[in-house]
Amino acid sequence: MPPTLPPTAAASPGATPRTDPPTANPVLDHLGRAMADYPVTPVRTIHTEIAGIRRTITLKLEGHSPWSSVKGRTALSLIQSVAGELTVPGATIVESTSGNLGLALSAICRELGLRFIAVVDRRQSPIIQQAIEANGGELDWVKTPDDATTHLQDRLARVRELVRDLPHAVWPNQYQNDANWRIHESWTAPEFDAQAGEKAQALFAGVSTGGTLAGLSRHFRRTRPGLRIVAVDVRGSTVFGGVPRPRALTGIGASRRSVFLDAASTDDVLLVDERQAVACCHTLRQDTGIAVGGSSGAVLVGCLEYLYRNPEVRHALCLCPDLGDHYGPTVYHPAWLDRMGLPAEADRLRHRTGAACTGFQSVDDTPSTTSAPSEEDIPR
Ligand SMILES: Cc1ncc(COP(=O)(O)O)c(C=O)c1O
Repeated sequence: MPPTLPPTAAASPGATPRTDPPTANPVLDHLGRAMADYPVTPVRTIHTEIAGIRRTITLKLEGHSPWSSVKGRTALSLIQSVAGELTVPGATIVESTSGNLGLALSAICRELGLRFIAVVDRRQSPIIQQAIEANGGELDWVKTPDDATTHLQDRLARVRELVRDLPHAVWPNQYQNDANWRIHESWTAPEFDAQAGEKAQALFAGVSTGGTLAGLSRHFRRTRPGLRIVAVDVRGSTVFGGVPRPRALTGIGASRRSVFLDAASTDDVLLVDERQAVACCHTLRQDTGIAVGGSSGAVLVGCLEYLYRNPEVRHALCLCPDLGDHYGPTVYHPAWLDRMGLPAEADRLRHRTGAACTGFQSVDDTPSTTSAPSEEDIPR
C-alpha cells in the first residue's frame, strides 16, 4: 500500500494550507489539493444538567465539510491508498457503503473522471442515493429485506463478485484498509484536539468500521493520556460482538466486528437505544437549532448516560459524523417516527432523550449554522 500522504497544514486551525509538490501520479496530486482546501470543521459547545450537575459538551460537526460528513476524510485517504491502481483507462472504484462514504467517493471520482459503483442496501437514505447518482456514481443494490441482519455480508459478497468480473475494478475496502483509521489519527484527531479545550475529560464517538474512533484513539492516547475514550454503538450492532438484530439508523453500527479497534482503543463501550438517539436529535434541534444525523444523536445519548454515571466528568467531547440534512425523510419525518413507535412532537420526544436530560443550552456566540433538513436538500 502506498504511504499515506501527510495531511496538509489545513489540519491545524489557523495554519496556512501547504501545497504539496507535484508527484508523478495525478490522482495523488488531486487528493493533495483536496486536502489542502478542506475546511476545519467547526465545534459547537452546549450545556446540559445531568444528575443535578451542569456539564459542558463540545460537539465537532463533521457535517460542515465538502461532502457533508466525516467520511469525506476517509474517502480521500482510501482513494489515496489505491492511487497507484487508478491511472489505467477504465479504472473503477467499487465499495460497499450505506451512504456517506459513497457520497464522498462519488464526488471525488467525478472530479477524477473515474467510474464509481456503490454497493448499497435498501435502508440507505434516499437523499444520499440521489446525490451519489447526481455525481455520476452507479448504485448496485443488494435485495436484503429491511428486517434482516445480513445487509453488510450481502453487500460484501456483491463487491467481491464485481471486483472479480469487472476489468480494472479496485476495491479500497473501508472495513480492512488501514488508510481508513490513519487519516483520522493524522488529521481529524489533531484538528479536534486543537479545538477541544484543556479541561475535556472524555471523548465519545460512534462506530461502524471503527476507523474514525481508532484514529482518534491513537492520537488522543498520546496527547491526552487522561482522556477517557468511549465508543458508542447501537443495540443490535455487533461491532463489539454479540448477536445481530435489525437496526433502523444508518451510519452507525455494523453486523461484523471492527478490525481496527482493540481493548486498548477504548475505556468503555456503550450500546444505546436507537429510539433514544432519535429523540435526542429532536431535543437538540429544538433547544439549540443544531440538527444532527441519527448517529450523532446516538453518540450524544451515550455521552449523557456516561455523564449520569460519572458525576466527576464535567466536560465531554462528541464527534458528530454528519448533520440532519440527509435525514429529512427518516429521523426528521413524522411517518418514519411513527414507524419507530415515536411521537412526532419534539416536546413529547424530550422525555425519551435519556439520562434524565431535560434539554440543552447552546453557549456559543456564533449563530446556528445548521438548518432544519428538507427533502429538497440534496447534497452535491
Ligand atoms: C454517519 C456516520 N458516518 C461515519 C461514522 C464513523 O464510522 P466508522 O466507524 O466507519 O469510521 C459513523 C459512526 O457513527 C456514522 O454514524
